[in-house]
Amino acid sequence: MSTINLSRIDTAGAQTDVVVIGVVKGEGGVTLPAGTESLNQAYDGRLAGVLESLGATGKTGEVTKAAGPGSGAATVVAVGLGEAPDGELKTEDLRRAAGAAVRAAKTSQSVSLALPTPDASCVRAVAEGALLGRYAYTAYKSDQSGDSEPGSLTVLTELADDAGARTALEQATIVAEAVNGARDWVNTPPSDLHPVEFAASAVELAERYGVQSEVLDEKALLDGGYGGISGVGQGSANPPRLIRLSYTPQNPVAHLAYVGKGITFDSGGLSLKPPTGMISMKADMGGAAAVVGATIAIARLGLPVQVTAYAAMAENMPSGAAIRPSDVLTMYGGKTVEVLNTDAEGRLVLGDALVRASEDKPDLIVDVATLTGACVVALGTKVAGAFANNDATRDRVLDAAGVAGEPMWPLPIPVELLDKLKSHSKVADLANITGEAWGGALAAAAFLGEFVAEGIDWAHLDIAGPAFNEGAAANYTPAGGTGFAVRTLIQLAASTAG
Ligand code: BES
Ligand code: MN
Ligand code: ZN
Repeated sequence: MSTINLSRIDTAGAQTDVVVIGVVKGEGGVTLPAGTESLNQAYDGRLAGVLESLGATGKTGEVTKAAGPGSGAATVVAVGLGEAPDGELKTEDLRRAAGAAVRAAKTSQSVSLALPTPDASCVRAVAEGALLGRYAYTAYKSDQSGDSEPGSLTVLTELADDAGARTALEQATIVAEAVNGARDWVNTPPSDLHPVEFAASAVELAERYGVQSEVLDEKALLDGGYGGISGVGQGSANPPRLIRLSYTPQNPVAHLAYVGKGITFDSGGLSLKPPTGMISMKADMGGAAAVVGATIAIARLGLPVQVTAYAAMAENMPSGAAIRPSDVLTMYGGKTVEVLNTDAEGRLVLGDALVRASEDKPDLIVDVATLTGACVVALGTKVAGAFANNDATRDRVLDAAGVAGEPMWPLPIPVELLDKLKSHSKVADLANITGEAWGGALAAAAFLGEFVAEGIDWAHLDIAGPAFNEGAAANYTPAGGTGFAVRTLIQLAASTAG
């Protein structure tokens, strides 16, 4: 990852390859926000006009590049901030603007950002947007010349000597490392990230940051009665894992449990997916990547909240050993499930993990999963579905998502769909599908709810859409793995800490 620093704002004198400024949409053209005065002077007061002549309008996210004034930065990147007057920019606007600008300067070694930073939360947003926008996954490319350099980033701000701004910068670095690490896991080809490697990589990270870890291997899973994870994993030559991470600060104010779906590749199993539907299925472990990344970050931030994370890892493959439609699995805790579609496997591994997480008696369980195509049909590729077993819990998670800048929308868990799951199996406690086409994301949530112990607050985030960007990069979101939900889970712990 790039390094990032704070420096006193001096847009004209910044010795850097690129200086980034904001431009605001004004009455007769663009206007320049505070902090750009010295740079404007270096252009003899004509910077707004220069940018307009290059097409700048100030539209949100628009990027305009100009040659530097001859002294200081070689290139000026102006990013549109919309019509927001000074001080009214939302942190997510700043995060996106920083990301867009940094991506436009991706081949430059050093980039300084002089976006409006009236307070420390704005410094954090600019730093996060820059570090997230700078991300590139180059591990498998022989020619990396078109991609981002690690390089150095600088936030130019009046608050350079402010303790709160320095803390904000450190927090942004920890958060961005967690998100970018989750992106790396998602982007890794599934032949190089089986459950065994994924678990080992998570444990190594946990050890580095003093987070305790435990791994259940395939034998421990079978012996322990984890029928869901074992069943999904049995068709693959690469055995499943359940990992448990725990971060236990002194005098925690609450105990959160995070549970992630970690299907390292989802072929559908014997209910095989069509070829095109399979291509992005290396990302089916995005939920597990998010809970592991967030838990490490929460520990590094030293938040006074106990976090126990479970990542249920398996590869869903068809083979002579695979589960068959109509097989019955006995889940951890004893409930039986008739598997009528082997492609509805996420709920099977999560069911085990939710029962196990309930045993820890946390105050709140949040599971994160690339669970259903139906959720993508409902909410598109940028918005996650948010479900919960009570409204206050749902709002608590949605509030955290709002602060983090990760779009999520509430969806219901109709009792009728739970009834259908139960009645659809003639032999087991419930089937893993309802047998009807409608409301697939809701039915999956209803299934999961059966594995959460009575009396525990629980939320479920279906990130099937936003976990993986099949389109082009935009603002701070790259193509491929996005690290979605990492920031919400960190923010939820921060909000819980108060
Ligand atoms: N991993 C998929 C869900 C998914 C689809 C994630 C598209 C990301 C993008 C999940 O395991 C799955 O296959 N779900 C099925 C459920 C169905 C068989 C009830 C689906 O959504 O089609
Ligand atoms: Mn599936
Ligand atoms: Zn899946």
